Amino acid sequence: MHLRRPRQLLCASLLLALLLLWGLLLVTEDARGAWVVSGRFPLARGRPLWRWCFGGAAPAPSGVNFPSLLASPGAAPRCEPGQVLLILVTSAPGNWEQRRVIRRTWGAQDEPAPFHWQAVFLVGQAADAGTASRIRQEQQDFGDILVGNYRDTYRNLTLKVMHGLKWAAERCRPRYVLKTDDDCFVNTDRLPGFLAQLDPVPARLYAGSVFSREKRQVIREPSSKWYVSRQDYGPDKYPPYASGIGYVLSLEAAAQVLAAAERVRPIPVEDAYVGILAEAAGIRAQASTRFAKHNVQWRVCNYRYLMVIHHLSPPQQEAARRSMLQARNACRDSLEVTRWR
Ligand SMILES: *[C@@H]1O[C@H](CO)[C@@H](O)[C@H](O)[C@H]1NC(C)=O
Repeated sequence: MHLRRPRQLLCASLLLALLLLWGLLLVTEDARGAWVVSGRFPLARGRPLWRWCFGGAAPAPSGVNFPSLLASPGAAPRCEPGQVLLILVTSAPGNWEQRRVIRRTWGAQDEPAPFHWQAVFLVGQAADAGTASRIRQEQQDFGDILVGNYRDTYRNLTLKVMHGLKWAAERCRPRYVLKTDDDCFVNTDRLPGFLAQLDPVPARLYAGSVFSREKRQVIREPSSKWYVSRQDYGPDKYPPYASGIGYVLSLEAAAQVLAAAERVRPIPVEDAYVGILAEAAGIRAQASTRFAKHNVQWRVCNYRYLMVIHHLSPPQQEAARRSMLQARNACRDSLEVTRWR
């Protein structure tokens, strides 16, 4: 054992002092009985005090394994510098139709955008070789897919989003990141401009459709898609978190969430996990009614306000894009809302 660190020296001297004291006590017969407590002295290997004194480095981190995620195969998407917004879209390998329709609706940039933004699809490893090679081809054709080296399953969604955020924060560095799904509509005509007018850039921005307290119960039913064991997450309720349909993080907030992910054990519920990380980083979830969980009959004027709408079929994506473009000139007399709600 090398006594290099002050903590070890301190512990060693304490131990020595205790041994000396014991020796003194032994001299007196009747002190013997009192020494029975010594059985509880944490000298055994692995006991907390022993570990604290001589255990060396802290136990291995239980958080997300980022080096393995970043060692993903294939070429990463291109990423232009100076973007206001990077949109990360989770997508299953077989969702060709969803990706195709997004590329020609809200993901299309037919005219130069006043505020630079980009959409990237997050796709994992397909179960069969045929699908995997089609994904590689699709990435070659469009350059907009970040292929991960995790198996693409619902229970791996957390890994998918952590991979996307890490790539965004380290390789792309946009001012803001939006995480969304491929069955969602994103108002790309307004969101980049809305974010660009936030001045200064809020360092700790985490905004979306935040769940109420009643909807933050941790599901302990093992057959559920959202099952989380007590070992993985102890409390009965999640902290306030934004629905995975869409949430915006400023680059600084994303970096802090990622730093927390290195120490906090992941759970398969991706949006709740981001909420747990935000709480660990001291970032408050900003609730916003601009993120709609339901695709009701939104009117053209609503497209001057809404930023994300959930649950659209490919034909509905086409209709939503038309409404978004009409909203440029329609309803101009309605008040322009410049805040989150
Ligand atoms: C997640 O991906 C990893 C790596 O491919 C795989 O070993 C694991 O089985 C996957 N987990 C689930 C729950 O699908």
